[in-house]
Amino acid sequence: MSMQKVAVLGSGTVGEVLANGFLKHGYAVMRGTREVQKLAAWAQGKANASVGTFEQAAAYGDIIVLALKGSAAETVVRGLADSLAGKVVLDATNPIADRPPQDGMISFFTTSLGDSLMERLVAAAPKAHFVKAFSSVGNANFVNPDFGGTLPTMFICGNDAAAKDKVTHVLQQFGWEAADMGVAAAARVIEPLCILWCIPGMLHNQWTHAFKLLKR
Ligand SMILES: NC(=O)c1ccc[n+]([C@@H]2O[C@H](COP(=O)([O-])OP(=O)(O)OC[C@H]3O[C@@H](n4cnc5c(N)ncnc54)[C@H](OP(=O)(O)O)[C@@H]3O)[C@@H](O)[C@H]2O)c1
Repeated sequence: MSMQKVAVLGSGTVGEVLANGFLKHGYAVMRGTREVQKLAAWAQGKANASVGTFEQAAAYGDIIVLALKGSAAETVVRGLADSLAGKVVLDATNPIADRPPQDGMISFFTTSLGDSLMERLVAAAPKAHFVKAFSSVGNANFVNPDFGGTLPTMFICGNDAAAKDKVTHVLQQFGWEAADMGVAAAARVIEPLCILWCIPGMLHNQWTHAFKLLKR
């Protein structure tokens, strides 16, 4: 079977950690950026790793990972809508506003629970199959984190069942159990988990935790 191709859109830490995670798990990865030159060193010497523009990466990937600044994501996605059609789009973005945190709480530019960034992305590229994932945990925990044998929970949502199955498989490879919270609109409550996740970090410099959904 040929290697699955993943496009990671985003030149920041989140893009780098996820790109390295996909390489580790046997995928071919192209990272996308507006400035291809700045990622050249990342790809150098790595098998199955390449760099391109957002457009080149979106055309390349079978799976697309969004690791973009939240405030830029909607415009970028709208511009790539044709390339994203029919593809799984793993959306790790959060709608973080440029305001400073208050009492340990970062703020969002989506200001009501009737709105979410991922729903805006769905509207911008309606034929893509978006799945929210990796948005509610710090990047240091993304790839096979060690919680002493306990599998952490990744809350996911999206409108396409097959896309969620694919992302669930990726999450298993990355050492997570997926908890499917339903349709894309559930991003309204998954995205704010990022605010909750950041509070121990902002207040106590504690950044190594993850969520676990206990069941009985
Ligand atoms: N930090 C974490 O641990 C963490 C955890 C979960 C989720 N997240 C979310 O993951 C996403 C990525 O975070 P990050 O810290 O790695 O990177 P970031 O600094 O939030 O975003 C970097 C990416 O956004 C693109 N970008 C910025 N402004 C743009 C514009 N005006 N037009 C087009 N593209 C633009 C950059 O493009 P260029 O490559 O061209 O510069 C770059 O690829 C964010 O939405 C964040 O909230 C972060």
